[in-house]
Amino acid sequence: MILVTGATGGIGRRVVRLLRQQEKSVRAFVRLSSRYSELEHRGAEIFIGDLRQDKDIQQACKGVDYIISTHGSGSDALSLDYRANIELIDQAKASGVKHFVLISVLGADRGYEDAPVFKAKRAVEKYLEASGVNYTILRPSGLASNLLPLAERFRETGLYLLIGDPKNRTSIVSTDDLAKIAVDSLTVEGARNQTLAVGGPEILTRGDIPQIFGRIFNKQPIVINAPLFAIDGLRSALGLFNPQTQQALGTYRTLLANEFFCTKEEITNLEKIFNFKLETLENFVRRYLAV
Ligand SMILES: NC(=O)c1ccc[n+]([C@@H]2O[C@H](COP(=O)([O-])OP(=O)(O)OC[C@H]3O[C@@H](n4cnc5c(N)ncnc54)[C@H](OP(=O)(O)O)[C@@H]3O)[C@@H](O)[C@H]2O)c1
Repeated sequence: MILVTGATGGIGRRVVRLLRQQEKSVRAFVRLSSRYSELEHRGAEIFIGDLRQDKDIQQACKGVDYIISTHGSGSDALSLDYRANIELIDQAKASGVKHFVLISVLGADRGYEDAPVFKAKRAVEKYLEASGVNYTILRPSGLASNLLPLAERFRETGLYLLIGDPKNRTSIVSTDDLAKIAVDSLTVEGARNQTLAVGGPEILTRGDIPQIFGRIFNKQPIVINAPLFAIDGLRSALGLFNPQTQQALGTYRTLLANEFFCTKEEITNLEKIFNFKLETLENFVRRYLAV
């Protein structure tokens, strides 16, 4: 039995689909409010719970052989990115789970002080590495699926909002490729006890993205380039009445202010370990938006 957390999210949903295509037994950890009927139709066992509750995690881990942790936190990094993963690892250790796959984030090891998600991910990575449980830690850069709503808006309007430096580099990864890598990590020998950066096959600048959309939709991009201090202003205002959201914006600001890309060597290594060619952002968007 394979437990997937964040099973209704961008990565988790794809992980469950792949596992069910392979006819594997899957337990999908979902919230009552989640949109999980597709997973149920595909034959996943639905476990309804809340990852903030240790007893729900303990219950969900019963009889599980593998765990793929893909959940995200929104604004509660402490409860979800940190505590829930620590509890999952403790349960994995106690019940002799064979392999644990953790979705972390590219740059988790760079010591960004103002980014709670990055700090939580790094602490969990270290805990997992020291746990004695077989693991694969995947550190993705930005996910291509996050760009689909922006691509759809671009198709309608030709507009693209770019916050921060357009020259910052990124390697957007196909969310389908990331899901495949997460699933294959359970069995591929070269992935065992490895921490792997995961990106797309090309290093892009953030300014390349509207150009790619322009090519796909045959439209001249109108790029609105907002400066980073727009986020700073918003953070200061929010801090007055919502400190948690202010902290979450720290993670968002870190993502916008820095470069997140994989080196050519990291990508070559990834393609070698998992024995397939990674998909470009352009291909991903064309596939999903049928253009
Ligand atoms: N998005 C990116 O560009 C990016 C880049 C690098 C790394 N990552 C990492 O990748 C992982 C997944 O990202 P994603 O974009 O796929 O996330 P996502 O689409 O936002 O999905 C988050 C998932 O976590 C679930 N969840 C949230 N709170 C929960 C709770 N209290 N109890 C149970 N489930 C809960 C959500 O359930 P509901 O459906 O009920 O909301 C959803 O299934 C995260 O760990 C994120 O840090 C993301």
